[in-house]
Amino acid sequence: MTSELSVRSDVPRTGRAAPALIGLVYPALVWSVHALSPFAVVLTLLAPGLCLYLAFRLANENRYRGATHVAYFAVGAPALYTFLGGWLDSQKWLPFGANGVWVILWSGLLILTAVERPKAIEEAGIRAGKLAFAHGVSAAVITTFAVFHLANHLTGVFGGEAHMAVMRHLRLVYRQPTVEVVLLSCVLFQVVSGAVLLLRRTRRSTVRWTEVLQNASGAYLLLFFASHVSAVLRARYLQHIDTNWIWLTADNLLTDAWSVRLVPYYFLGVVALAVHGASGLRWVLLEHGRRQTAERAFLATVAAGGLAALTIVVAMVVASLGGVSAAARTKIIGDRNGGGFDGECWRLGHRPSYESCGVGGLFRAISGEGGDTVE
Ligand code: HEM
Repeated sequence: MTSELSVRSDVPRTGRAAPALIGLVYPALVWSVHALSPFAVVLTLLAPGLCLYLAFRLANENRYRGATHVAYFAVGAPALYTFLGGWLDSQKWLPFGANGVWVILWSGLLILTAVERPKAIEEAGIRAGKLAFAHGVSAAVITTFAVFHLANHLTGVFGGEAHMAVMRHLRLVYRQPTVEVVLLSCVLFQVVSGAVLLLRRTRRSTVRWTEVLQNASGAYLLLFFASHVSAVLRARYLQHIDTNWIWLTADNLLTDAWSVRLVPYYFLGVVALAVHGASGLRWVLLEHGRRQTAERAFLATVAAGGLAALTIVVAMVVASLGGVSAAARTKIIGDRNGGGFDGECWRLGHRPSYESCGVGGLFRAISGEGGDTVE
């Protein structure tokens, strides 16, 4: 049961509205990476970091439920921006792109959080329950895949050939129809169950940092999974692109106006997975009364995840800097703001020529499997 309160809030109105404002200006931070300096990438990481801090303050106070949700949502801004960009910036059917939707969405959230009135929220007793258990089981399946998947990306340090050779071998397992259906079903279940658990969790005040970290990393992963898996499936089934190392590094990740968003997005995706997994592991160990091991395991997992994230992303960025020429890229991939997904590319079952879209064409061209050569 909730009731109106007239008490003054600890988090001022500016602090409550700040996550939505940060979300609103996030595209400008991304833009500054290619337009001003590659070092501006730090800003794209500080922005969700600041939202995380505000989520902690708001979750502690627990009287502004809307603002708390928006703060968690804003932590996921890098993933949401990639998700919307991936689907909206390369289509010709709707008369708007990701930036238009972005401004409307975050302006609305800004107004909502600025005018929200405080409510006393009942401290609901939250038990782990069956859903949390199933969430953990499904997480174990995804984590098993992720360990190999990220190990594969780490081989990018040794170059594209090594990365693609390892991926070819791993695909023999995870592209088995049964394995893939189980994996993608787990991802879907993870997203839905995660959203339910997160909404339940935010019904009570959260005083511990570890809980806020678990919630925020979960919120990021929700949006990351939605973006990442849909991007892979869209590329594979709608554009007929081979989603390999060339797909990952074809555009200069520091200077291409669209692709710079992928740097914070991928980095935080791996970090969020590590933080979220570490939180789950910590909770299980605490339940078994092993406090010291729990804290050590948490720190070690987060540190390993952070190091892996940095290594993978640096390897991808470095590879993308020496990638194919701009002319070849435009020719093969198409202009993401116009020539990428045209009607031809979108229609299921139709295989477009690789001049019109598809990095798969680039791979075929490089490996000499017919078609035009890439300069
Ligand atoms: C730097 C980070 C990451 C990069 C660059 C990346 C890249 C890729 C690529 C290139 C594929 C296509 C694989 C193929 O064609 O065989 C893929 C698929 C996939 N990725 Fe990631 N990924 C990253 C992080 C993650 C994380 C943290 C997860 C979470 C578990 C994840 C989950 C998946 C899933 C579920 C698929 C679909 C697999 C399939 O059925 O084919 N990825 N990723």
